[in-house]
Amino acid sequence: MNLRQLFLSHVAQTSDMPLMLEIDKGEGIYLYDKDGKAYIDMISGIGVSNLGHCHPNVVNAIQEQSARYMHTMVYGEYVMTPQVKLAHLLTSQLPEVLDNIYFVNSGSEATEGAMKLAKRFTGRREIISCKKAYHGSTQGSASLMSDDYFTRAFRPLLPDIRHIEYNDEADLLKITNQTACVILETVQAEWGVRGPENEYLKKVRNRCTEVGALMVLDEIQVGYGRIGTLFGFEKYQVVPDILLLAKGMGGGMPIGAFIASRHIMSSFKDNPFLGHITTFGGHPVTCAAALATLETILETRPYEEAEAKASFVKEKLRHHAIREIRNVGLLMAVDIGDFDKVLAIIHKVLSNGLIVDWFLFNSESIRLAPPLIITFEELEKACNILLDAINEVCADS
Ligand SMILES: Cc1ncc(COP(=O)(O)O)c(C=O)c1O
Repeated sequence: MNLRQLFLSHVAQTSDMPLMLEIDKGEGIYLYDKDGKAYIDMISGIGVSNLGHCHPNVVNAIQEQSARYMHTMVYGEYVMTPQVKLAHLLTSQLPEVLDNIYFVNSGSEATEGAMKLAKRFTGRREIISCKKAYHGSTQGSASLMSDDYFTRAFRPLLPDIRHIEYNDEADLLKITNQTACVILETVQAEWGVRGPENEYLKKVRNRCTEVGALMVLDEIQVGYGRIGTLFGFEKYQVVPDILLLAKGMGGGMPIGAFIASRHIMSSFKDNPFLGHITTFGGHPVTCAAALATLETILETRPYEEAEAKASFVKEKLRHHAIREIRNVGLLMAVDIGDFDKVLAIIHKVLSNGLIVDWFLFNSESIRLAPPLIITFEELEKACNILLDAINEVCADS
C-alpha cells in the first residue's frame, strides 16, 4: 500500500473528503508536496502559521531545547527556563490583570480550563456563550456550541449552558448573578468573520462587571496578530478576566493557554488543590517554540500590515460572483453564496498550488487567512489563482 492508502486505512478520518495533500516540507508561506510542487498556504494551517512554516527562529529554538531537556515532570512542579521566560514575556505584553498563565496543549483545553476556573472562582454553575461560536471539540468546549447539527449526537453535554446572540445588546440581560462566565470570540471566526459592532464587547464587559460574571475572550484564532493587533481585545479597548490563546502561539507547535489574574488563578490551589492538572501542558520544547515565536513577532511586527494587505486582497478580488468580502485584519471571508461552488473552488485552486478553505458555520464563504509575513506580490499571485478558479466555477452565475 502507498502512503495515501495507509493514511486512509489507519489514520482516523472525520469526513469522506480529506484533501490528501502529501506534505514533504514547509517553508515560509509555502507547503511542498512529495513531488516538489509548491502550494501557497492561504489559511496558515487554519490560523496557526502566522510567521509562515518552519520559521528559522522557531526551528532553532526547538532544536536547542530538545537537545537540552524535554519532558521532566507534570505541570507546575519544576522551574523550566523556556516556560518561565515565555510567561514573563507574554505577561509583559498584556494588561496588569492578566498576569498569570496556565499553559495547556490546545485551544479546546484552554477553553476547558477557563470554564473550570470560572466555576471555581465564582462558585456559580451557569456558563453563557454565543450562538455560532466555536471554542473547541472536547465535551466541555463542545457544550458551548449552539449548532445542533454538530452536538446532538454527543448529548448529554454539559448542563447550565445558555446561548446569547453575538452583537445583540438586549440578550446581555441573560447574563445575571447566576452566571459564572461569558465566553465569546473577540471576532466570530467560524461564523465567517463577524466582528463586534456598536461597542458590543465593551457592553459585554460592563454587564459582566455589573453582575460579577467573568468575561472570557477566546483569541485562539484571532490572537497573535491575526486581526492587526497583537491581541484582538486591544483593538476594541476591553480587557477580559480570562484570555484564551493557542494556534498561532506556538509558531507551529501545539500549545495553548488560559490567562487570568493571579488572584483568580489561585483558586485552583485549594478546594480542591490541584484544581487543574496536565502532564504535557507547558512542555519545555513547545514553550521554547512559543517564546521564539513571540520574540519574532514583537521584533518584526508583521501584524502592522494586516489591514493594508486585506485591503489589497479586496481590491484584487473583484468579481461579480463574489457577494461580499468580510475581513477583520487578515482574517477574511469571501462570500460566494453556495457550498458546492466553494468546494469546487477549493479543489480547483489546490490543483493550481493554492490552499484555501471554508468555515465551520459558514460554508458559503471561502476562508483566507495567509501567514502575516506574506508579501503583496505573493498576495497578488494568490488572488490571481483564486480569480481564475472563481471565473471557471462561477462562469454561469
Ligand atoms: C476560536 C477557536 N476556539 C477554540 C478552538 C479549538 O482549538 P483546538 O483545535 O486547538 O482545540 C479553535 C479551533 O479552531 C478556534 O478557532
